[in-house]
Amino acid sequence: MCGIIGITGREDAVEGIIRGLTRLEYRGYDSAGVVTNNGRDLRTIKRAGKLEVLRRALDEQPLAASTGIGHTRWATHGEPNDRNAHPHVDPSGRVAVVHNGIIENYQLLKAGLGDARFASDTDSEVAAHLAARELAALDEPDLLTAVRRVVSQLEGAYSLCFVALDEPDTIVVAKHEAPLIVAHADGVGYCASDVAALIEHTRQVAALLDGQIARITPEGFEVVDVDGAPVEPHRYTVDWDLDAAEKQGYDHFMLKEIHEQPQAVADTLLDRLNAPPGGGVPRLHLDELRLDEGELRRIDKVFILACGTSLHAGMVGKLAIEHWAGIPVDVEVASEFRYRDPIVDPHTLVIAISQSGETIDTIAAASHARDQRAPVISLVNVVGSTLARQADGVLYTHAGPEVAVASTKAFTTQIVGCLLLGLYLAQVRGRMYATEVSDILARLGQVPAALEQVLDLDGEVRELAERYHDSPYTMFIGRHAGLPIAMEGALKLKEISYLHAEAFPAGEMKHGPIALIEPGSLVVALAPAGHVFTKMVSNIQEVKARGAAVLAIGSQGSVVALKEHADHVLTLPEPPHELAGPVLSVVPLQLFSYHVATRRGEDVDQPRNLAKTVTVE
Ligand code: AGP
Repeated sequence: MCGIIGITGREDAVEGIIRGLTRLEYRGYDSAGVVTNNGRDLRTIKRAGKLEVLRRALDEQPLAASTGIGHTRWATHGEPNDRNAHPHVDPSGRVAVVHNGIIENYQLLKAGLGDARFASDTDSEVAAHLAARELAALDEPDLLTAVRRVVSQLEGAYSLCFVALDEPDTIVVAKHEAPLIVAHADGVGYCASDVAALIEHTRQVAALLDGQIARITPEGFEVVDVDGAPVEPHRYTVDWDLDAAEKQGYDHFMLKEIHEQPQAVADTLLDRLNAPPGGGVPRLHLDELRLDEGELRRIDKVFILACGTSLHAGMVGKLAIEHWAGIPVDVEVASEFRYRDPIVDPHTLVIAISQSGETIDTIAAASHARDQRAPVISLVNVVGSTLARQADGVLYTHAGPEVAVASTKAFTTQIVGCLLLGLYLAQVRGRMYATEVSDILARLGQVPAALEQVLDLDGEVRELAERYHDSPYTMFIGRHAGLPIAMEGALKLKEISYLHAEAFPAGEMKHGPIALIEPGSLVVALAPAGHVFTKMVSNIQEVKARGAAVLAIGSQGSVVALKEHADHVLTLPEPPHELAGPVLSVVPLQLFSYHVATRRGEDVDQPRNLAKTVTVE
């Protein structure tokens, strides 16, 4: 979604801003802009389209200053055009702002500004007008005070970044429900919506908490609350380096990230066992736990809340928790949760799953549950993210930075995280002996090697993609642990190739969807060996009988039977545990979507209309 970077104290701030925006491109955007403050005027250049368009405009009309802010916009209010691109400057030309999120009461605020003329259709512009008005009302210019007064009038979610003509070495930022990081290194002050924009300058960063406002100068930064009292942000060291955020020879980040899965899964499994004080069998532990085990023993229900791909990982999590820990689990689309009347109490455990830890739907659903005193455990990839900070317990996936919009390595590590949580709950509640838990963990340790074998199928998958890249409609079917993977396969295909794809529980086909099958329809069937395999074979026969072309994702134990019925079979190694099967079976589907999309010439890493981190509801 929108990206922000601000720099003050660097000779050529614009060059740094453009580099930072380039690192934020993966978030998804439709226009970009920059404003500089040289103490004489605020100069703005903004363009609809990709950063390349903005770069060309800057080549024709260079901006020089040591302070500036840049923005990539993902349109919410007003179409993506030059006018609505950020930054927005107030009519007197004294204050400029960029904004991520939505100011929900912007119409009311605009009305309160009388006959002020607005240059855009955005909700964001009002923040520049308000800041200019508050500044004008002060005896001494003080952007920090003005911004404090502005944010006390705002409703909604925002990270805001301001510059003012009278304070050429200052950037002021404010955060509420949208991420914002500040940093200082070598006489330069920075702010950004995402550490990716800052990693080339420093790994020591501070994430603002909701309600915090920071003044950034070349000397450093100070953080206050809305009343002006000093407060502490969340300071941390980023644990990955620049290399991890580069393509490293791959054509696309998505392909690189697909190939990083063996390592990412191995890292997520690493060091999960702790020897108890005083000796004994090692026990599985969570990274940060602010819950006591007694509380977890009293849990009688689990809600897994997540969106998109993370939701599909949660569906595997349900199977694992119910199987190992024996607790009933509901998996729910996070954006729906707080708009009904979920039965949540202190004995309900909520597991919130998110790669970014910044998805507003998931954060809001988790805090709705916390309001009802339900303990929350988050399963997140980004260290120090909002969801990680707000939860009572955190389990980190160690996938490293995921840049492609289409989630791949985050998904497989989330499944592994869900398996760990299932085992952890079983251990805490005495449903499994520590030796059983460590035995399953040892088996999961074989998954990375099995993933390497699956990646060797790339050539075969590419041929299939070549054959079916024009197939207008693809159906994915599965049962048990195959169903979330069918859903993930359909999501991957539609988000990057823009082809219509749907997933169904294989047993549901005869209750309606099978009517869609006509000669030549492509059906992808998840059919590894396991307790639902024979049922899958029947479902494959049903679609085959109606003329479908079937691509079966099988395993060594199911391949012989599958070859009798399917047109194509991709054979995976047998997983070390049936519940680890989804980690393997999703990989050919990721590769299939990737090859279909590249064959169709689509922008794989930044698919249209999509954003990597969805910070608006
Ligand atoms: C998956 O490819 C998508 N990018 C999307 O569905 C994503 O999983 C969803 O927006 C949730 O994001 P999160 O994991 O960062 O919360």
